[in-house]
Amino acid sequence: MDRIAIVGGARLEGEIPISGAKNSAIKLMAASLLSDQPLRLTNMPRLADTRFLGKLLRRLGAAVIEMDGPEGSETVLHTPEITSALAPYDLVRQMRASFNVLGPLIARTGHAKVSLPGGCAIGARPVDLHLKALEALGAHIDLNEGYVYAQAPRGLEGATIAFPFVSVGATEHTMLAAVLADGETVLENAAREPEIVDLAECLNAMGAKVEGAGSPTIRIKGVAKLHGAVHAVVPDRIETGAFACAVAMAGGDVTLTQSRPEHVRALLDAMAAAGVELDETVDTIRVRRGAGRLKAADITTEPYPGLATDLQSPFMALMTMAQGVSVIRETIFENRFMHVPELARLGADISIAGNEARVTGVEALTGAQVMATDLRASVSLVIAGLAAKGETVVNRVYHLDRGFERLEQKLGACGANVRRISGDQEEAA
Ligand code: EPU
Repeated sequence: MDRIAIVGGARLEGEIPISGAKNSAIKLMAASLLSDQPLRLTNMPRLADTRFLGKLLRRLGAAVIEMDGPEGSETVLHTPEITSALAPYDLVRQMRASFNVLGPLIARTGHAKVSLPGGCAIGARPVDLHLKALEALGAHIDLNEGYVYAQAPRGLEGATIAFPFVSVGATEHTMLAAVLADGETVLENAAREPEIVDLAECLNAMGAKVEGAGSPTIRIKGVAKLHGAVHAVVPDRIETGAFACAVAMAGGDVTLTQSRPEHVRALLDAMAAAGVELDETVDTIRVRRGAGRLKAADITTEPYPGLATDLQSPFMALMTMAQGVSVIRETIFENRFMHVPELARLGADISIAGNEARVTGVEALTGAQVMATDLRASVSLVIAGLAAKGETVVNRVYHLDRGFERLEQKLGACGANVRRISGDQEEAA
């Protein structure tokens, strides 16, 4: 297994281009199943998660072609026919968002058998809202031997669905099914994340009639058929936020390009409160920090437009060396402080009570071996390592590879001392 080694202390200077959003790209890839015409996605990130999903889509009958076009990486997905409506456990287990093929499969073929995703390192993550919404659209659902068996032989029907709380995945999944349902679907208390807007724009480009994405009420008028389209994946707001924290932690002057500052407003506000200098244009963010220490700032994670749970651990890493006590509340997932004991290995002073972490800033961190259980936790350890004295080695890099494209090259190009130690090389040595 690969590892990443960081020698802390280098200031960062230059530019970091932001990639397309992982969490949008994988839903857009699933959307391609809804049409027998090709969907061309530009600004595609090349990640372990998009590769996994490509593998699953191929099993279902899709041709998935990755190429480098004039505007960067592209993927063309084309499923003239669904040749199998089965998403097996081994593929859904590797990436839980694979579960989102269920809706498009029922919408297109009237039946599907998709493995339940199971729990994950950040919480139980049930899919009850997804299943209830699909049932409300008329799908008949049975759970058996860890699989969802779904049937809608006469097609899905529009319905009004009021979500009891905000779920990004359930909102997207219901959109993916309702676009081909008969009649109108109204989603109330829908998630408002930029990925929802991106999905709606892509579906509309394919001929769907989705209105209101980005607001709590989404209206979808079902259509009989979708066609092919070209769509550019929205910039990754989590990658943007993580790199902003990385620059603020290391110190220096870096401009994040091809990004959407308004999608990370809550984080930028918290960073500004901590004393980070930020200048933005419509698609760039210049992040600067001089030699002085930052001030502690408090955050609470919330559904969008609140501060993203995926940016909780990067911001916590930043706060480990700020002056004062920062209170960090996690309200989305029940088990998302797994990075805390690892940050403590680097010398951070953090105590946890329930869903609240109190971070007392220290003057220095010291490099150590660390390991993370999920993607966003892993990047927080890289961020801390950029400012720690000596060498930090982050184990289980496959988590990072799931969601950060060329992380070490992007940071290295700005002067960070980051290198990948390949598992193969070590075994050979
Ligand atoms: N929930 C339920 N039942 C459901 C669905 C969700 O109880 O049927 C709960 C979850 O367990 C959680 C809360 O509702 O406590 C919110 O979960 P949500 O459905 O909004 O999250 P998700 O769709 O499973 C996506 C991202 C996550 C990101 C969250 C929140 C993808 C593939 N994943 O998850 O990203 O943290 O939204 O913004 O889009 C990551 O990229 O590392 C990641 C975990």
